[in-house]
Formats: sequence, structure tokens, C-alpha cells
Amino acid sequence: MTDRNNRQWILARRPDGDDFESALEFHETGEVPQPADGQVLVRADYLSMDAGTRMWMSPREDAYQPPLPVGTPMSGMMIGEVVETRRPDFAIGDKLRCFGQWADYSTADESAGLFEKLPVEDDIPLPAYLAMGGPNGWTAYVGIANVGEAKPGETVLISAAAGATGSLAGQVAKNLGARVIGLTSRDEKCRWLTETAGFDAAINYRTHDVGEELKRLAPDGVDVFFDNVGGDILDTVMGQLAMYARIAICGLVAHYADDGKRPGPMNFDQVLMKRATIKGFFSPDWFSECEAIEATLKQWYRTGKLTYNLEVVDGLENTLKAYHRLFDGANIGKVMVKVRD
Ligand SMILES: NC(=O)c1ccc[n+]([C@@H]2O[C@H](COP(=O)([O-])OP(=O)(O)OC[C@H]3O[C@@H](n4cnc5c(N)ncnc54)[C@H](OP(=O)(O)O)[C@@H]3O)[C@@H](O)[C@H]2O)c1
Repeated sequence: MTDRNNRQWILARRPDGDDFESALEFHETGEVPQPADGQVLVRADYLSMDAGTRMWMSPREDAYQPPLPVGTPMSGMMIGEVVETRRPDFAIGDKLRCFGQWADYSTADESAGLFEKLPVEDDIPLPAYLAMGGPNGWTAYVGIANVGEAKPGETVLISAAAGATGSLAGQVAKNLGARVIGLTSRDEKCRWLTETAGFDAAINYRTHDVGEELKRLAPDGVDVFFDNVGGDILDTVMGQLAMYARIAICGLVAHYADDGKRPGPMNFDQVLMKRATIKGFFSPDWFSECEAIEATLKQWYRTGKLTYNLEVVDGLENTLKAYHRLFDGANIGKVMVKVRD
């Protein structure tokens, strides 16, 4: 073990807005953690960049995940290889998808939730287990099928539609027979949604009036809104709901950096007027269904009914460049950091 060095990103202080450079420190020499009984030591291949992890950097105690203590390594999902094992069901060389740290090495077990050995499949590249399968894919499916209850012929609207979760959610809805509209921040992302991901329409919410565009594209209203954003977008969409609409609150990325009071939607009265349902959900609550969901996603992928885009940033030292892409809206699909070949 002594010849191994562990580079890692430490949460040195709580970030102010998107100033991650001041909050996270890159420590280039560090101890390799020792796995306890029941754990494995994982060497990271790919780190998953997830917008929800911004919440863990904040001090708020009322989020669905407690805040990460200051002074500890930043954590997140990853794909890696077992290099030491203290459990009989994992061997050295096994690939796995798990929670770990933004570091070369992490100890892992099921206590953090995600902890799964990955199959070796010629037609599914390793990063796809987080870019298409895994929590983003499960969340997309649960939000559209179980929470949104999207039905054939209905109009489904997705915010942050060109991101990892949103782009999969739109495709799930298409595969269930719905008509799908995406909201995103750039024309290039709109084009990717309609030309590659199979969305029926996309709206650039920075350059267009979303309310007016929805009146044009969804004259009978939005049946299902899969919201990743909250804030003004949620407010506007609540003014364009169909009767008996369902709003699946997946994420509130517009608010993750807030530390004060968060305003409620001004159009909340539409919940009554349209007899709408609004429901937050957290995909780990649906974990028992995720194996079946993953099988469905893979089958759609293999039959050309589901695609994903992957943006890979090379090098653990460039993790913050990768992370920023989620918050400046640069990303199309999944962003991952390649830690080693
Ligand atoms: N409930 C669950 O179980 C669960 C699980 C996984 C993820 N999520 C949620 O899913 C959402 C997407 O996460 P992801 O990891 O897949 O990220 P992502 O969608 O790949 O990237 C984040 C996207 O959010 C948009 N965005 C970023 N900052 C914003 C802001 N201040 N205001 C408005 N839009 C902003 C940008 O899209 P545009 O360029 O289109 O604006 C950006 O591309 C997050 O809200 C996350 O918390 C929830």
C-alpha cells in the first residue's frame, strides 16, 4: 500500500454560489484509506458529476442528504475497480458502481446506498452504467412512469431537458408513447434534443417566452411536468397545466446555492384550478424497482430507442472544470471525469 498515493478533493469551506474553486482544495498527496471488514478499496476509473451534490456542500440540514462536513473529501458516485477486498463477494479486478470520493481511492460498501458489481458487456461501455443506467436513468424512469404516470398521447414537459437526467426522462416518456417538449438554455442543446434524442420540440428558455411557446406547442396544456429546476420555470409552467396534470419534482437546481428563504410558485392556485398533483420524489426510495428499470433501459438502448451523450473530462485535477459545466449550462447529457484509463 505504501507505493500508492491518493489525490483527493477536500471540501475546505462551504461554496458561495458557484465559486467551487474557493471551496474545494486539491490535495495531491494523501493516504490511501484502508478497507474495513465488509468493505472494498476501489480505484476510481470515472467520477460522476451530479447537480444534486451541490446540496451536500451547503450547510442546510433539511435536505434529503445531510451536509458533507467541512474538511472531508467531496463524495459522489463513481465507477471503479476493486484493488483490495475484505468481502467474499468481490474479487480484485471487479468493476463496480458505488458511492466514493472525488479521489483516486475510496473505500466502499452498501452503507452509502449504491454499491453494485458491474457486468462486462461488449456492447455497453463502462461509463454508460452512470450515463444511461444507474441513478440518472432510474430517476428518469421513476419520475415519468411512476410519479408522472405519463400516458400515450399526453404532453410531457421536461426542464433541464438536455442534461443527464432530463434527456433520459424525455426519452422514457417518448418510449411510453407521450409527446415530449424540452426546456433548455442554448440553441445547440435544443437541436440535440430534437435531432438526436427524439424530443418533439425544444424551447430555449433564455431567448423565448416559455409561457407563449407552451401555448403554441401545447395548446391543451401540459399533462406531465418533470421538473429539475424549480424557480421561475416551475412558476411559468404551472400557468400552462392541463386538467389533472401531474408535476413530478425531481430537482430544484435553481435553488441549490440559495441560503435564504425560497419563494413558492406564484401560480400555486393552479393546483386547485386544474386539479393537479404535485409530488416530489427521490429515486433511492424506489430502489427495489431499479433492477427491472435498468433492464428496460438497456433493452431500449440495444434496440435504438434510447441514447445518451457523454462528456468526459480527463484528469482528477480537472474535476472542477467538469463540475462547472452542470451549473453554467454547458453540458449536453452526462458529465464524467476520467480518472485513469
Ligand atoms: N430526485 C432524485 O432522485 C434525483 C436524482 C438525480 C438527479 N436529480 C436532480 O436532477 C436534476 C438534474 O441533475 P443532473 O445531475 O442530471 O444534472 P444535469 O441536468 O446534467 O445538469 C444540470 C442542468 O441544470 C440546468 N441548470 C443548472 N443551474 C441552473 C440554474 N441555476 N437555473 C436553472 N437551470 C440550471 C442546466 O440546464 P440548462 O442549460 O438546460 O438550463 C444544466 O445543464 C437536478 O436537479 C438533480 O438534483 C434528482
